[in-house]
Amino acid sequence: MKKTIVTGGAGFIGSHTWVELLAAGCTPIIVDDLRNSEERVLLGLEKITGRKPVIHRIDCTDARAMNLVFVQEKPDSVIHFAADKAVGESVRDPLKYYHNNIGSLVTLLRVMADHKVKDLVFSSSCTVYGEGDKLPVTEDSPTGAAASPYGYTKVVCEQMLRDASIADPALRVVMLRYFNPIGAHPSAHIGELPIGVPNNLVPFITQAAAGLRDKLTVFGNDYPTRDGSCIRDYIHVVDLAKAHVLALQWIAKQKAPLCEVFNLGTGQGNTVLEAVHTFEEVNGVKVPFVIGPRRAGDVVAMYADTAKSLNVLGWRTELTLGDALRDAWRWQLALG
Ligand code: NAD
Ligand code: WQD
Repeated sequence: MKKTIVTGGAGFIGSHTWVELLAAGCTPIIVDDLRNSEERVLLGLEKITGRKPVIHRIDCTDARAMNLVFVQEKPDSVIHFAADKAVGESVRDPLKYYHNNIGSLVTLLRVMADHKVKDLVFSSSCTVYGEGDKLPVTEDSPTGAAASPYGYTKVVCEQMLRDASIADPALRVVMLRYFNPIGAHPSAHIGELPIGVPNNLVPFITQAAAGLRDKLTVFGNDYPTRDGSCIRDYIHVVDLAKAHVLALQWIAKQKAPLCEVFNLGTGQGNTVLEAVHTFEEVNGVKVPFVIGPRRAGDVVAMYADTAKSLNVLGWRTELTLGDALRDAWRWQLALG
């Protein structure tokens, strides 16, 4: 049975991936200090699978602690989710982001080298494309014009991985550029846990619908799109999680050195207002909202070209925007 270290495995995307890894016959081991997640995620994982997750509560930038995990677990591969991800916070506190997001990858690559672990899946982001040169955006579109320190950490990590795989011809790396992950597990036992004020659209929608917020503010309706609001590629987190299993399986069949990048999106763009109205339709619940000014740094439209993920990994999304918004609402209701 293949053993995979899942850093950030108690987080939003990591926890859903843990479920899919287990279903695929892997042994996923969580490394997460719960700085942006909670104990209850572990209970949720147990409820879904009947298995108690193995977790090492350590900081991934701590080389000694990471080394001990590798000594103890003897993993075959790693999926590295652990990172800070709030775009606005990264503008206010860039060093926190450079320290954690880049530092944790440097530490991980060193420990992997020491233990001769060669297979790695890395969480990147569509943010590396900045505004994007054409739509849908393909993997060979230029990167590097990210709009935030957070975005730059992903650009730097990607380059670090390219350099590391040139230097170590045994490394096999897949970098996955996620578009806008949303939704929750259909069981409503795990989902997104925004601690404090959310960073992303869908928790704002569900919290406004639940009456936890007065209203949602739609950031701008004067963009050159079909209804004036921005377009994004919203992908169900369960579809996203499944891609990680396929990526690990694909890596295992490849020859090293390997450093390949894939877009993970639906290929479909939806506007903010479409997301709001789809939420209302599938759940039969109103979302109080107002139109506000544009948010600084927002790109008008971004959605993925998914041909490479389909052709190479054999991955495509199976769930719709409506499925994701239904599951997000079930999760919000479960959260109370
Ligand atoms: P998340 O915050 O829910 O999960 C990250 C997890 O990593 C958390 O449980 C946190 O406690 C843990 N963590 C962070 N730094 C750590 C450290 N130094 N040591 C130990 N644990 C640490 O975030 P997520 O949405 O699941 O994102 C996972 C990855 O995907 C991140 O790398 C993020 O940048 C990337 N990503 C996320 C999105 C998104 O919109 N959610 C989009 C694109 C890319
Ligand atoms: C989506 C749309 C907003 C909140 C971010 C990161 C990106 C990636 C995914 C990590 C936009 C609009 C939002 C609100 C709104 N993360 N919106 N009212 O900005 O596309 O991407 O998450 O890698 O790097 O930048 O996601 O969910 O913040 O916004 O109208 O209260 O919803 O303007 O058009 P974004 P988001």
